[in-house]
Amino acid sequence: MFENLKQIEKDAIIGIMALFREDHSENKVDLSVGVYQDDTGVTPIMASIKQAETELLVQEKTKSYVGIAGLPKFNDAISELVFGSFYHKDRNRIATIQTPGGSGGLCVAGHLINRGKHGATVWASTPTWPNHIPLLSTSGLTIKSYEYYDRENNQINFSRMMSSLESSASGDVLLLHGCCHNPCGADLNMEQWQSILELINKKGLLPLVDLAYLGLGDGVDEDASGLRLLANNCKELIVVTSCSKNFGLYKERVGAVSAISANAEESARTLSNLANIARSIYSMPPDHGAALAAQVLTDNQLREKWLEELAQLRNRIKQVRTELSNGLNARQNKIDFSFIKKEKGMFSFLGISRDHVIELRERFHIYMVESSRINIAGINQKNISYIVESICHVID
Ligand code: LMR
Repeated sequence: MFENLKQIEKDAIIGIMALFREDHSENKVDLSVGVYQDDTGVTPIMASIKQAETELLVQEKTKSYVGIAGLPKFNDAISELVFGSFYHKDRNRIATIQTPGGSGGLCVAGHLINRGKHGATVWASTPTWPNHIPLLSTSGLTIKSYEYYDRENNQINFSRMMSSLESSASGDVLLLHGCCHNPCGADLNMEQWQSILELINKKGLLPLVDLAYLGLGDGVDEDASGLRLLANNCKELIVVTSCSKNFGLYKERVGAVSAISANAEESARTLSNLANIARSIYSMPPDHGAALAAQVLTDNQLREKWLEELAQLRNRIKQVRTELSNGLNARQNKIDFSFIKKEKGMFSFLGISRDHVIELRERFHIYMVESSRINIAGINQKNISYIVESICHVID
C-alpha cells in the first residue's frame, strides 16, 4: 500500500527550522519558526510556570484521565482571560474545551463548523498562517481568500479587504487573527474591527478568531479588544486560543477552542459536539501544560508574575522592532523599513525577494521563511548588526 504514497514537500516553516539545525556555522541565525527567544537566544521557561510546576509536582496524586474536554479549571480560566467582562456576563453562552495546542483547537473548530454547515466556506486573509488551510479544510470546509496585506506598501489594504468580502454569503466563516497577525504583523484597529462587525452582522457570517499571540502585541486586554467587540455583538463566535507563546508552553501542547452560541441551551449542545469531535480525533488532550496554565491563572501571585513576564517578552519584541527598523534605515535607502516598528507581535515580512531570502540563508546562514517572514524574537544584541549588514548587503 505505501508504495502508492507520494513524497510530501517539507513544511514551509518547520522545514526551515530543520535546515537551520543542520547548519553548523557559528554565525547562524534562526528567524524562522515563531518561538520566542530572549536576548541570549534562549527560549526560557517562565519563572511563573516553573513555580507552578514545582507546586504541581508535589500536589499531583494521579495520572488518571482528566476527561475529553480537559481540565475544567483551565477551561474557565482561559475563557475568563480571553473574554474578560463578557465571560462574567454571559458565561453560559461560552462552550470551551482544552485542545492540544491552538492547532488542535483549529482542527476541532473546523469539524464543528462542518457539522453546523456541511462544506461551509471559510474566508482566510491573504496572507495567513499556512497551516490554517490544512487544519480547517481537513474537515471538508472550503477555503477562499480575502485581500489583507498590501506587500507593495507594507500595510493592510482595508478597503480591498472589505471589497473582497463583498462576495461572502450568509453562513460563510470569516477567519480573523485576533492580534499579532501571522505572518505580517499588521493588525486591525478598533475602527476596522467595528466595520468588520457590521459586515458580519449584515451578511450573517460566523467569525472565527485565531488568538495564538494574546498579550504579545499591546497587552492582554488590548489584544483581546477586537474579539471582545465581536463577542458582545454577534450571535455566534469561535475563538481558538494557544498557550504556546504567551505561556511559553510550546511542546506541552496547550490550547482551547471556545464557541459562543446564541443562548445557554444551544451552548450546551455546542459543548457536547465539541467534546464528541475531540473524542473522535485524539480522545483527550494532554494535561500537564494546561494544569500549569490553570495554576498560573488562578493564583493571584503567579498571575501577576506571569503578566510581568509577558510584558517583558512584549517589550523586548517592541524594542527589537525599533532597533531593526532604525538600523536598516540608517544603512540604506532602497527600502523604507519603518513599517517594522508599527507592526505587532513576533512576525513581519522583510519585504525582500525570495532570491534575497535564499542568499541570506546560503551565504550568511540567516534563516527565515521564504515569504521573507522573520521572527523578530530571534534577533538579539549579539546578532543584530550582523543581520542588518547582511540584509543591506543582499538588497544592495
Ligand atoms: C509559526 O508560525 O512559526 C508558529 O505558529 C509555529 C508553527 O507551528 O508554524
